[in-house]
Amino acid sequence: MKLVLFLIGIGLTLGGYIYPEQIHLSWTEEISQVKVTWVTFLDLPPQAAYRPILCGNVPSPSNFTNIKGETKKFRESKIGYKYQYIHTAVFGNLLPTCWYEYKVGNFGVWSKTFMFSGRTPDTAETFETVNDPYTLVIFGDWGTGPIGQYTKHLLGEETLTRDYLGILHMGDIAYNMEDENGRVGDTYLRMIEPIAATYPYMTAPGNHDSYGNFTHYKNRFSMPNNGVNEGTGYFYSFNLGPAHFIMYNTNSYFKDYRKAEAEVQTQWLINDLAEANKQRDIRPWIIVLAHHPLYCSQDWFEEGSQEDCGEQPAVLKPILEDLFYSNSVDLAMQAHVHNYERDAAIYKNQTIPSQYDGQNIHINPNAPIYITSGNAGNYLEHNDPASTTPQPWARFLSNDYGYGRLTVYNNTHLYWEQFSATALTEIDYVWIVKDQPRYKPSLIN
Ligand SMILES: *[C@@H]1O[C@H](CO)[C@@H](O)[C@H](O)[C@H]1NC(C)=O
Ligand SMILES: *[C@@H]1O[C@H](CO)[C@@H](O)[C@H](O)[C@H]1NC(C)=O
Ligand SMILES: *[C@@H]1O[C@H](CO)[C@@H](O)[C@H](O)[C@H]1NC(C)=O
Ligand SMILES: *[C@@H]1O[C@H](CO)[C@@H](O)[C@H](O)[C@H]1NC(C)=O
Ligand SMILES: [Fe+2]
Repeated sequence: MKLVLFLIGIGLTLGGYIYPEQIHLSWTEEISQVKVTWVTFLDLPPQAAYRPILCGNVPSPSNFTNIKGETKKFRESKIGYKYQYIHTAVFGNLLPTCWYEYKVGNFGVWSKTFMFSGRTPDTAETFETVNDPYTLVIFGDWGTGPIGQYTKHLLGEETLTRDYLGILHMGDIAYNMEDENGRVGDTYLRMIEPIAATYPYMTAPGNHDSYGNFTHYKNRFSMPNNGVNEGTGYFYSFNLGPAHFIMYNTNSYFKDYRKAEAEVQTQWLINDLAEANKQRDIRPWIIVLAHHPLYCSQDWFEEGSQEDCGEQPAVLKPILEDLFYSNSVDLAMQAHVHNYERDAAIYKNQTIPSQYDGQNIHINPNAPIYITSGNAGNYLEHNDPASTTPQPWARFLSNDYGYGRLTVYNNTHLYWEQFSATALTEIDYVWIVKDQPRYKPSLIN
């Protein structure tokens, strides 16, 4: 009896170290792949298994395919030597019309099973076969604190009833992952597991993620490589049907010692946008996402300065604004300021008229539309209230915690809506409609 209790005791103790946790998915640089990342606190060989369970409404029973994973040892503590083992495995040869079931494990200790969609970033050829509309969840600035919980409960429940393709988090993740010797990062990744183990969770870095040269960001998230980002996940792009998405790192532009890194990114952006424009006939939408805004209205004063909507945009605009405009970027998503602000099409601080502009629709816009959704729930409460004297280009502002959803319908219709996690309803929406692959950037002199 004593021996049994003793063995159970050891089992329970070790279980906490071996049991796979913090399971989350991401897309990779390859089509037809999904990568899974998870954590244990003992170094045991990783394995994963997956099988299609539903292919276009046809049940497809088959046996699990077992795959091997890779492990890296990550020191998560600032002080002392607290390590975790971060495992990754790649599910390949996915069919866009299938849903898959999967589990991960170490040394025979398996997680429960989760599901994901086989629809991944695509090429022109694969996109021809699956061009159904899809919806992404998009937000920034989400932590584990009390105000992050609204969004947590909502997204948790929603994923049971709605069908998303992925989640894009525009930086400021957990506040801060390195705090309490890394426990805040662990808590955050456990918190998001119900959604992130089902929908690829794609990230861009925020200023709160910068500790130790972004070491928690780089190690805990597994973003696509692109040959020049050195596996950092700072900047990358992917195609989903008729839209090209670019996630990039605004932090590089604010520090002199990141100058080299910033130049690599800018050159990559130039090339990536040029490539995307070659495909504009089949993939007319270009959407860029990053942490810091180029445009936002602001009345509050942070340490006596207008940093967030003034000084920092003044650094970013000379580098990025003409690049986005001359490449006919349709939509620039931003975060960092803890409120919601939807702006019109803007170039050089001027509202640029579309062929038709309504309160909730722009038909054939002629410059990027800027939207800030940075209020998933930071740790500080409403420290950046929405402006009470919005700039002329602002169209809708709110302080509600929440997140946005972007639906890409087809070559001509995008739909954005902001959801309030406190009011439990959509508070704003906009249609972006166009009948040309790209607008003509005629204002550059
Ligand atoms: C699944 O595995 C079992 C046992 O190895 C085998 O008999 C069966 O044919 C397999 N089923 C499929 C669909 O591969
Ligand atoms: C920070 O990360 C970048 C990109 O990985 C790397 O080039 C640089 O050497 C790192 N700097 C330090 C101080 O570790
Ligand atoms: C943008 O224009 C508004 C007036 O329309 C002005 O108040 C503001 O200072 C301008 N901002 C910049 C950065 O030029
Ligand atoms: C594109 O999607 C919109 C919104 O659902 C729809 O009204 C329109 O008919 C679609 N266009 C095409 C060509 O399918
Ligand atoms: Fe931020």
